[in-house]
Amino acid sequence: MRFEDAAVTLGGRTIWSRVNLEVGRGEFVAVLGPNGVGKSTLIKAMLGILPLAEGRVTVLGRPAGGSGKDIGYLPQRRNFDPNLRVRGIDIVRLGSDGDRWGLPFPGGASLFAGAKAQQARIDEVIELVGAGSFAHRPIGQVSGGEQQRLLIAQALVRRPQMLLLDEPLDSLDLPNQASVAALISEISSEYGITVIIVAHDVNPILSYLDGVVYVARGGAVSGPPERVITSETLSTLYETPIEVLRTSDGRMVVVGQPEAPAHHADRHTGHPR
Ligand SMILES: Nc1ncnc2c1ncn2[C@@H]1O[C@H](COP(=O)(O)OP(=O)(O)O)[C@@H](O)[C@H]1O
Ligand SMILES: [Mg+2]
Repeated sequence: MRFEDAAVTLGGRTIWSRVNLEVGRGEFVAVLGPNGVGKSTLIKAMLGILPLAEGRVTVLGRPAGGSGKDIGYLPQRRNFDPNLRVRGIDIVRLGSDGDRWGLPFPGGASLFAGAKAQQARIDEVIELVGAGSFAHRPIGQVSGGEQQRLLIAQALVRRPQMLLLDEPLDSLDLPNQASVAALISEISSEYGITVIIVAHDVNPILSYLDGVVYVARGGAVSGPPERVITSETLSTLYETPIEVLRTSDGRMVVVGQPEAPAHHADRHTGHPR
């Protein structure tokens, strides 16, 4: 994954520009930054669903948009209606595409084999994310953490090489944030999947990260966590005092990161560049 001098303009406004970054295969990378700075926009540029105003984005060796099947995408959270009757397993099934299970020979036998292979894969990913015990319940009636596991399973059905997860920990309680973060990290290392995860709070994922991309002030800064996650860099990016502490067992903890949107989204009007 590579951004070269990339810029995106939406509604006549430059969201970010001169973005250069590189994410290696199999890496686990967080996209961080205040609300409204363009983190989701960055993910959509990776997917090729938003055009660039300038520069180039290459994903899995191809121009963005050319690797659809190899990317699992979890959009920023929408809540499921508690009355929704659709079961978890049906949500997971939505992740399959027809062509992967395509029919090499005409006839009912291969159609049946295709459907069987598809069902086997669905069962496999449900097992993988630990959703076996609740996958048959209506999605609107399982907990937020369980919904996220099912959505991750959906993103995995097609055996992607890359996962783009937009705030998958959002609105989860702390124990669920920790367990879903651990699950995503396990999947990444076990299957060599590149994971790019947008997060509001870096702490639950900090120990897993190979790299960090900070989106702020109309641009992006990236690098290894030890270099980017420093009191100085974060305070500058968030325009508020932030401390990076070390716990007695050597973990980093970020303190003072704004919880809620710290700035009005319009603050980029009159972008200085
Ligand atoms: N289609 C659009 N047209 C104009 N502005 C948009 C559009 N989509 C998003 N924006 C604006 O782009 C900025 C970045 O949005 P987004 O990438 O969703 O931010 P983040 O994910 O970091 O919270 C926001 O100010 C948002 O209002
Ligand atoms: Mg967003």
